[in-house]
Amino acid sequence: MGSYFMFLVSVCCVSLCASFFTGEGTPPEIKDIVIGRCEDFKKGYVNPLVDTETLKDRNCTELWELFYKTFAYREPCDVIMDDYDEFITAAGHDFRADSALFWDGWDIYDTITEYAFRGRRSTVLDTTLPGYMINYLFFCGSTTDPSGMNMTVCPGEGECGFGLGSIDAFWASASTYFAENARGISRIFMNSNRPGGAFHLDDSFFTEFELKTITKEAVSFFQITLITMLEEDPGDTCSSDSIMELKRILDEKEIPYDCDENPRDVLHMLCIDNFKHEDCVGLSTSTGQPITATVTLRALSLALAIWIALFRPVN
Ligand SMILES: *[C@@H]1O[C@H](CO)[C@@H](O)[C@H](O)[C@H]1NC(C)=O
Ligand SMILES: *[C@@H]1O[C@H](CO)[C@@H](O)[C@H](O)[C@H]1NC(C)=O
Repeated sequence: MGSYFMFLVSVCCVSLCASFFTGEGTPPEIKDIVIGRCEDFKKGYVNPLVDTETLKDRNCTELWELFYKTFAYREPCDVIMDDYDEFITAAGHDFRADSALFWDGWDIYDTITEYAFRGRRSTVLDTTLPGYMINYLFFCGSTTDPSGMNMTVCPGEGECGFGLGSIDAFWASASTYFAENARGISRIFMNSNRPGGAFHLDDSFFTEFELKTITKEAVSFFQITLITMLEEDPGDTCSSDSIMELKRILDEKEIPYDCDENPRDVLHMLCIDNFKHEDCVGLSTSTGQPITATVTLRALSLALAIWIALFRPVN
């Protein structure tokens, strides 16, 4: 009796849960958005460090069509990552060596976006053409709407299963592309206070699609950076279990690594919005002198040196 009841519950869940999506619908303007972003990117306005010469032959309308045909007129959850191969291959490109910045967990997303500075400081997936074209969008198919797209509701993250469905499968495919193109020194940012540990072995796009993809032939060094937001106490450290697990995987892959906690470059950035925080006081110079005094002093001694050089009596 009990098992029959469980059977009924699971049958009901499969039929009801499958159509219960909580994501936004596809925006009716999606075609214009995707094509416009592609043109924008090709001009070099988004990420000036990507060689626009290599992108000049990409046809944005064609790229849109490759993307659209992957999920249009289909059940949202039927789409798998390999379905996006054609689009990713057509839109993907190389990026600067030593610039790849990975991340794990949404709670670090704003920080990596700000740090990457639209590709000028680091390259993140969203500052590559495929990532930029699709970033922030919800999109899924409809078998009934003439547009081929469901404009009402689409699967939220994980609602088709990990890495599955029109949206998650896209990011799985795009993450794999990003990891395949990372060269030289690469870096990951993680929030030290992420629930369940800074590094997640399961259900993590980083672990499943990026860490699994990188090789010692392409990635010469991996910098693990743990970040604690200014208002919080440090959580995981470089020797916490979750980070030890990440180090173990890098050891297995024979990729050298190092780990740091709130390094100065990141701390400076976090302090921009909270410069009176105790962790930010005295950050401006190593001696603790106010920056203006140091700069003034340096300028004065430079001026003196020039004056002496110019007006030195000639014998
Ligand atoms: C959109 O998706 C929801 C949830 O799966 C479904 O109930 C609805 O019929 C779909 N609408 C269209 C136009 O396909
Ligand atoms: C771009 O592709 C579209 C659709 O395939 C095509 O109609 C258009 O002529 C192409 N444009 C160029 C400049 O090749």
